[in-house]
Amino acid sequence: MITLENICVSFNKGTLLERVALDDVSVTIEPGAFITVIGSNGAGKSTLLNVLTGNILPDAGRIVIGETDVTRWPTEKRAGLVARVFQDPLEGTCGALSVEENLALASRRGQSRTLAMALGAKNRSTFREALAQLGLGLEDRMAHPIGLLSGGQRQAISLMMAVLSPLEILVLDEHTAALDPRTAASIITLTNTLVADKKLTTLMVTHSMHQALEVGTRTLMMHTGRVLHDLGKDARAKLSSADLLGLFEELDPA
Ligand SMILES: Nc1ncnc2c1ncn2[C@@H]1O[C@H](COP(=O)(O)OP(=O)(O)O)[C@@H](O)[C@H]1O
Ligand SMILES: [Mg+2]
Repeated sequence: MITLENICVSFNKGTLLERVALDDVSVTIEPGAFITVIGSNGAGKSTLLNVLTGNILPDAGRIVIGETDVTRWPTEKRAGLVARVFQDPLEGTCGALSVEENLALASRRGQSRTLAMALGAKNRSTFREALAQLGLGLEDRMAHPIGLLSGGQRQAISLMMAVLSPLEILVLDEHTAALDPRTAASIITLTNTLVADKKLTTLMVTHSMHQALEVGTRTLMMHTGRVLHDLGKDARAKLSSADLLGLFEELDPA
């Protein structure tokens, strides 16, 4: 179980630029849940993920993963628990390193990292198998610099890298938003497969109403730093993406 209790985050506190990004947010995430998160720009979606990863420490509130209170843990210390894929494929991978070097670093997430340690023959065959699973022929390009691959290929590898080491929660921040529709769809299929195979607990931010309802088992709708709707299986089954858009329009009547 992962619990966020009464989380508050403000930026530029005490200045004219003060912004409340999370306003007393409480969410309980059951093991194996796959939650999609939607909300207008500035709703606090990325901040919510950053609070989970430890990139932002909350001003108030508590984060508990399993039995452990991780509220004050820095990102490095949480790396063995939380894995993340960004919107920009370039952010999650190192372009100058080869495909297998990127995988090797990812395989030691949360531990001390040296490439030599992670690039043994046993790991190489694990990486080859993982890449073959993507169906992109990348298992034959393990020595190529990852910078030579397309955005979609890099994002597929980022996703694979995120789940290579054991983890408690996978965090996806609009990880298909920078891709063309076809590539985005294939990354969503891969996401579904990995999450189901590895029984991962997942939080996925998306701008697509359709994706929000199609993917996962529960949907949070955020607005101005708060979770306004928490839609479970039954509620989602009754909603179309048009209905979801309608809920948005109610928030900010023009
Ligand atoms: N590093 C930052 N410095 C100042 N304000 C920030 C920072 N990050 C986010 N914000 C503000 O916090 C609010 C929530 O942002 P964010 O979580 O990025 O929203 P979303 O991902 O839903 O678009 C916004 O008002 C945004 O401008
Ligand atoms: Mg964001």
